[in-house]
Order: sequence, then structure tokens, then C-alpha cells
Amino acid sequence: MNNYVSIEKISRFEGEEVLIRGWLYNKRSSGKIVFLQVRDGSGFIQGVVIKKEVDNEVFNLCKELNQESSIIVSGMVQKDDRSKLGFELLVKEVTMVSQADEGYPISLKEHGTDFLMDYRHLWMRTPKQNAILRIRDEINLSIRNYFHDNGFVLIEPPVITPTSCEGTTDLFGIDYFGEDAYLSQTGQLYAEAAAMAFGKVYSFGPTFRAEKSKTRKHLNEFWMVEPEMAYVTFEENLVIQENLIAHIVQSVLSNRRQELAELERDTALLEKIKPPFPRITYTDAVEMLQKADFEFEWGDDFGAPHESHIASKYEKPVFITHFPAKMKPFYMEPCPENPNVILGADLIAPEGYGEIIGGSQRIHDLDLLLKKMKEENLPEDPYQWYIELRKYGSVPHSGFGMGLERTVAWVCGIDHIRQTIPFARTLNRIYP
Ligand code: 4AD
Ligand code: MG
Repeated sequence: MNNYVSIEKISRFEGEEVLIRGWLYNKRSSGKIVFLQVRDGSGFIQGVVIKKEVDNEVFNLCKELNQESSIIVSGMVQKDDRSKLGFELLVKEVTMVSQADEGYPISLKEHGTDFLMDYRHLWMRTPKQNAILRIRDEINLSIRNYFHDNGFVLIEPPVITPTSCEGTTDLFGIDYFGEDAYLSQTGQLYAEAAAMAFGKVYSFGPTFRAEKSKTRKHLNEFWMVEPEMAYVTFEENLVIQENLIAHIVQSVLSNRRQELAELERDTALLEKIKPPFPRITYTDAVEMLQKADFEFEWGDDFGAPHESHIASKYEKPVFITHFPAKMKPFYMEPCPENPNVILGADLIAPEGYGEIIGGSQRIHDLDLLLKKMKEENLPEDPYQWYIELRKYGSVPHSGFGMGLERTVAWVCGIDHIRQTIPFARTLNRIYP
């Protein structure tokens, strides 16, 4: 018999004998019976080993198995309404593939998150962490599907870049055969080139920020999806963003119910995430904050408490539009009616999760771009290729960047971004 099945598909095998290849997550025994919590990566199932129904050897082996030993278990699938899964396994045989060392670091008692992050390579085996990373996988897929189905071409920008792409601070420098180079903070400028070649493109990859922030929203290596669209204006750009976010949330609601339940996520809040999303200007947001007695001046940047206050007024993500040009990067198109503000927006997630998207219409006029670059003291030489995009068939165009991990944190409803990526890189962590 070699009918291996995965636990997530176990309901199809009710009343049948199956083989599960996995690991021993936990164990309880009471004299004549041993309960094995078996995980196989796709789910968790309880195996019941009854002394008088199995060989002595099997029963004794079960009693000796250490937590996280790898095992192959055969047994009969039967209904069990008390378990989350709805099924359990009446065990017939157990083969030990590898006995785990005693003293598995992650016992089933509560550990602090810092301790668990040191054991991330093992922590990811536990139900909640497993659920988060499965939701991340679903979000990844839903993003790719959304863009593919809407005619976007995936374009991978380089990770090693000769210049800064998003402000000159926060760069990780590297030595590129004796020349200075940097890990990319954004793929945007390259995506702009590709948009003029393909019309609608998106990049999706790791980006790097040498920010020394210790907040629950910052990673030093994170994944960003960055669409860029020729002939698309500021307003149309917002519609694409809200459609994308709604598509992501709906995909998770449709396909990852069990994982959301594992995380005890309030799905009623997610059900409300449908377009259109509210829009307010930066100036209105400042007024809102001042009315609520925040000390905040026009031109200040929002911190976490400000974003949370603004978001608390809405059940959906909210666009804050028309930021002061001085606060934003050189490439953002000024508003024709008031050039002190830009045709761009940040999208602020509900429930205090903060900014998940930043985007804008881009400057397409050559002279304006050169003027802005001069104001920011950016050298023309290394950006010559970017400038040339404005010489050869320039058109109005727009794009945005969505942080994958912040989106996963919000959809999962978890308190810290470091749990949303397999192996986090933060100010104090480069291990494991
Ligand atoms: O607002 P940001 O810096 O925008 C850009 O880099 C643009 N070039 C994107 C574009 O228009 N193509 O970053 C975009 C998003 C943020 O809204 C946030 O979700 C995420 O990237 N992000 C981070 N996520 C985790 N840790 C950090 N340190 C992040 N910095 C930005
Ligand atoms: Mg931003």
C-alpha cells in the first residue's frame, strides 16, 4: 500500500485506510491509549493509538517518540466532530523515519516572540505561523493572477543598482567590483522603462531599506509589488489599487478560511473591503488631526498614531491624496491646480495597520523632471536612461508600490510584520 494522502485532503478518504508522511507535533498518553498529533505541512490530524488494537512494537514505539520526530503513520480515517479538522486517524502502524533529539526548543508552552524568532526555522512548523505563511502564499498568487488576468506583463528589475531609486538615505551599499552599488529600494524606475515598452507592467520582488526603525511595520528586506502603467492618470491609478486590494482580500476569504480561523481573524471586517475606498486630501487629513487635538502642521509627515486616527474613521482602507510635493520623491507629478501638492496617494489600511500602498502619477515632461532633479541635487549622468524615457515618446503614466508584508499583516490581523515573511531581516536580526 502506498496511498499517501495529505491531511488537507483527508475528508475525501473517510472510512478508508491511508498513509500520512509527517512529523509528530505533540503527544499525550494515558496508559492504554496514545494520542499522536501529526502534522504533514498541509495540516494537523490526531492519530489515536489503542494498545489492544496495534502490535506491541507499534505501541511501544509511540510511547518513545520525541516531539518533532519524523514518522509515517497508517490508519483509518474517521469522523471526529470535536476536532478542528473534523476527522481523526485510528492508527494501525507507525514507522519512525528519524527520532528527534530530546528537548525540542519550542515546547508547547508560551514563549516570547524574540525567543521564537531565534528559532524561526522551527517556529514556522506551528499552526499559527503556518497559517500566516499560507495566507502569504495565497496573497502572492492572487496578486499575480490579478495582474496577469488584466493584461500586465511581469518585469523583474535588477536588485543591484548603480544609484538610489527612492531617496538617497536608507541605502544598503555594496562593493561592485570596486564601484559603489546599492541593493534596490524599489523597482519603480525600471518599471517605468518597461511600461513604455509593454504598456502595463508590474515588478514583484525583494526591496531593501537600511532604515534603523524598530517599529512593528518595518523590515529591512521586504517584498513589494509595483505596477506601472502608460497613459494611466492619477484617478485611474487609484481605481486599480482598490480593485487589487479587494481582489486580494476576496481570494483569501474564499480560499484560506481555515487559516483565518486558526488566526482568529474577524472576517466580518474583511468582508467589507469592497471598492470604492474613501479618498481624502492630505490637507483635509491635517485638519482632521488638528480637530482631534494632535499637534500637527501642514507639511508634517504622518506617524503611526496619526495614521491610526485617520483610519479609525473608516471601515475600508482610505486614500490620502495630494501630499505636499516637498515630502515626496522627485518623480511625482505636481497637481496642475496647485503645484505645491502632488498627484499621488498613500493607501492606509484599517485597524491601525498603516500605509500599505504609496503611488502617484509620474512626471513625464522632460524639463520639469530635470528641474526637480536639480532641486533634489540628483546627478543627471547615472539617471540618463531614465531621462531618455522623457525624450522618446513620453506619455502621462502612473504606478504604485504595495508592501506585501504589511498587507499580509493586515489581512491576517497579526500584530507584527516580522511574522509575515519566512525569515525576517530587521534592525537587530539577520539570524536565522
Ligand atoms: O512608499 P514607498 O517607499 O514607495 C516606493 O518605494 C515607490 N517607489 C513605489 C512605487 O510607486 N512603485 O513604499 C511602498 C510600500 C509602502 O506603502 C509599504 O507598504 C511598503 O512599500 N514598505 C515597507 N514595508 C515593510 N518595511 C519597510 N521598511 C517598508 N517601506 C515601505
Ligand atoms: Mg510611502
